[in-house]
Amino acid sequence: MELITRMMDGSISYDPEGRLKPVLSGPGARQEDKIERLKELPIFEGCNQRQLRSVAKIARVFDVAAGTVLARAGEPGNEFFLIIDGSVRVEVSSEAHGLLHPGEFFGEMSILDGGPRSATVIADSPVRLLVISRRQFSMLLEDVPGLTQTLLATLSRRVREAEARAERLGTALTGL
Ligand code: CMP
Repeated sequence: MELITRMMDGSISYDPEGRLKPVLSGPGARQEDKIERLKELPIFEGCNQRQLRSVAKIARVFDVAAGTVLARAGEPGNEFFLIIDGSVRVEVSSEAHGLLHPGEFFGEMSILDGGPRSATVIADSPVRLLVISRRQFSMLLEDVPGLTQTLLATLSRRVREAEARAERLGTALTGL
């Protein structure tokens, strides 16, 4: 089971070395801090104060160290991740990998279709993440105007990129 899943469901509190810590997820002033951070992310720019408060309530914020495996290809996945700070490396295969940066997200595929993780995702630097559990994901879609379209556009782009990669690979193999 993914480390963050175990932290989210409370079956472990922290990484044994203390590298993975929930931050800014408390009530009161800290909730306001979280709302301020949410406002900085383009994905939430269409949200009013009520919607931001609702997102802040369902989201947890985690800090992870460089090298932390956030999703493992082939394993079940129960969280959606939005990068607040830092970058992550997505490894689709040994040939295909890329970096995702602040404001970008990952983990949507398993949440949407219930299938296993399609790629391995590893923190490329210290990363601050907003994490939404499967249970809360439909609330997120309701709260954030335009999120459904953003997800669809991102999925379309990823399909195009995968097709282009497959074509390049096919060309390279037939050229051997
Ligand atoms: P999911 O399959 O839940 O877990 C792995 C995640 O990696 C996946 O969701 C996407 O968010 C992300 N991912 C998969 N393929 C690509 C790709 N080609 N480009 C960028 N991100 C990807």
